[in-house]
Amino acid sequence: MNTPQEKQAVRAWIAQATHIAVLTGAGMSAESGVPTFRDAQTGYWAQFNPQDMASERGFRAAPARVWDWYAHRRAGVAAVQPNAGHQALAQFEQRHPGRLTVVTQNVDGLHQRAGSRSVLCLHGDLLADRWLDAPRACCRLGAAIPGSPPRCPGCGNLVRPGVVWFGENLPVDVLDAAQQAAQSAELLLVVGTAGAVYPAAGLAHLARQAGARVVIINPAPSELDSAAHAVLRGTAAQLLPQLLCPPGVERVNRETERV
Ligand code: APR
Repeated sequence: MNTPQEKQAVRAWIAQATHIAVLTGAGMSAESGVPTFRDAQTGYWAQFNPQDMASERGFRAAPARVWDWYAHRRAGVAAVQPNAGHQALAQFEQRHPGRLTVVTQNVDGLHQRAGSRSVLCLHGDLLADRWLDAPRACCRLGAAIPGSPPRCPGCGNLVRPGVVWFGENLPVDVLDAAQQAAQSAELLLVVGTAGAVYPAAGLAHLARQAGARVVIINPAPSELDSAAHAVLRGTAAQLLPQLLCPPGVERVNRETERV
């Protein structure tokens, strides 16, 4: 378990950092009730083959099956709330505008729903739709198109979820901004990711090479532990409030805010 000294050291690094980047993964939303991907038994990839459910080939092979799985995930995310970890990040950003950037692999929108404004979504947005093939004049998103998945009545183009699937490129502008954030941060918090998927996981190495301190927050070992200056064994909803809004800091903040 973490020693008080380890947590105090990370709190000091947070206080000293003018720029903090936070790389989050599925574990960030676990305490909201959203399944992760690689946790044994409960992770999505313990139940489904990722290539069947999160690739263009898988979607083309069985569009209804994939569309229904994403519809199930959308309903699941709509039914949950951001947890104390999401809220701690959002409140810190509100108290310190411009000092904290969230770079998330998650597509659930929970950082934004908690109030975070500086959020870079590396893997897209679960709630967004896009066309499978290049849209033609007849392809109009937003219209109530029937079908699972919806199909353009004019040309049969399929609607797919607006997420990045395996084998697809991340949005270039978002990845550039994420790399900038990692390289300019004095501190990178890596929260709730197995560190198994690149280029997202590479941001931890980029930050370290650029001179940032790297802190892992994860109840279990991850592939990025070796890149870290500190590894805090615990969950997002437990540790982030302790690190970002310790009671003393919160009280001081409340007093200054009243002035
Ligand atoms: N708090 C913090 N971390 C947690 C918690 C929690 N409450 N619960 C689980 N974890 C950790 C697990 O120990 C694991 O290391 O979160 C991590 C989740 O790992 P994955 O399920 O692999 O999720 P992630 O790393 O985000 O996957 C990256 O892979 O399948 C693709 O596109 C998908 O964005 C995803 C990417």
